[in-house]
Amino acid sequence: MRIAVAGATGQVGSQVTALARKEGHEVVEISRETGFDLTDPDTTRLEAALQGVDAVVEVTSFPAIDEAASTEFFTTVATNLGRAATAAGVPRSVVLSIVGLDESQDYPYYRAKLAHERATRAAAPGALVLRATQFHDFARQMLEWNTDGGVARIMDVPTQPVDTAEIAQVLLELATGELDGDVDLAGPKPERLVDLVRRYAEHVGADVVVEPDAAVPSMAGGSILPGDGALIRGIDWQTWLAAQPRS
Ligand SMILES: NC(=O)c1ccc[n+]([C@@H]2O[C@H](COP(=O)([O-])OP(=O)(O)OC[C@H]3O[C@@H](n4cnc5c(N)ncnc54)[C@H](OP(=O)(O)O)[C@@H]3O)[C@@H](O)[C@H]2O)c1
Repeated sequence: MRIAVAGATGQVGSQVTALARKEGHEVVEISRETGFDLTDPDTTRLEAALQGVDAVVEVTSFPAIDEAASTEFFTTVATNLGRAATAAGVPRSVVLSIVGLDESQDYPYYRAKLAHERATRAAAPGALVLRATQFHDFARQMLEWNTDGGVARIMDVPTQPVDTAEIAQVLLELATGELDGDVDLAGPKPERLVDLVRRYAEHVGADVVVEPDAAVPSMAGGSILPGDGALIRGIDWQTWLAAQPRS
């Protein structure tokens, strides 16, 4: 198959790209680095690149959690990409989102991600949504983003993180039609985010005190944990941690 990956240079996108090629698919890589800015309203070149594509996998991201800016980014990307895919006759689209969004609308970034899903469903041909829980690597990101003056304040929420290799695999299964319908995906073990960040900091020898911070009520109450129908796949967080470099 010919598969376009929007966000092909990113953490998840690079794994989808590599896996798709390994399985013998042709990949069209879409990102600014490969010459496509998906916020550009002129989609002429994008439409040309999507000719003959069987499925688009969209795994873009915006480098801030500000609600207004991320809503603008995600809805613009979804609309432009969906319009170009429709014009090019692409039959199937898959977008990556987050487990528990509907129940977590008191968290501003999740309002932006719900807008992302809705814009994708409105614009993208044959739209499917994969909602994944937090990446295993999210603990590292949270430590990086929230450390100030030797203290990392981390929202105290239950989470059931998943390996990004599994996310890439399920995205590809949805793109090829091996899986159908919207999917929720999680790793095998519930954890607490603040505990993961503390263990990650210890693992890499970071000189930082990790403290719990208040979370929005929905997430503190477990809204981002997977429900009964979720796919459970991949290694648990501790197994992932053991494979991470120590510095
Ligand atoms: N972190 C988590 O725990 C988690 C959990 C579930 C779902 N998610 C979702 O997963 C998605 C992917 O995350 P990620 O960490 O893989 O993202 P990432 O590593 O930051 O990669 C983002 C990708 O988007 C591309 N991109 C950004 N702006 C673009 C633009 N204007 N035009 C075209 N391409 C653009 C980037 O490439 P260029 O810079 O080359 O343009 C890059 O390839 C996000 O939407 C996130 O909400 C995250």
